[in-house]
Amino acid sequence: MTATDAGVDYGRLIWSDDLVLGVAAIDEQHREWIALVQAFQRAVAEGQPAEEMRRTLAAAVAYTESHFADEQRVMEEEGYPFLDDHIGQHRLAWDRVHAFASGEVPDDEVRNSLAEFLPQWLMLHINTADRQFARWLKGVAAPCAPAEPAGRVFGDIPL
Ligand SMILES: [Fe+2]
Repeated sequence: MTATDAGVDYGRLIWSDDLVLGVAAIDEQHREWIALVQAFQRAVAEGQPAEEMRRTLAAAVAYTESHFADEQRVMEEEGYPFLDDHIGQHRLAWDRVHAFASGEVPDDEVRNSLAEFLPQWLMLHINTADRQFARWLKGVAAPCAPAEPAGRVFGDIPL
């Protein structure tokens, strides 16, 4: 099996400096999160044994849960005013990810979702909702340059 079977592009989920938000703890987790999802994608793309696919998926899912919790805790501690919206986005994504991990989703659908939903969601979420928080946080830290209250893009996130 190759990385381009069925026209699937598994190479779209790539960490780059364009994803850096300037919040060290969150940036480091995003880097690790992407690496874990990439490991799962690789297991699928390379046709590795089912146990390896499940193992890498379980690792990505566990990290997703702890990352969401950590990120939400930071937002809560900082008094982020859009926390509820952010939690809602995490919850919708979590429901999909958890469905994969529970074995309720057929393998074909897992593969398609990997190729489309997860990379798209991760990149968009980091670059929009998480970046919005980073901008707000910097505005709080430097009140002379407040974060722009407009420009929320939550409705653009595919779910
Ligand atoms: Fe987030």
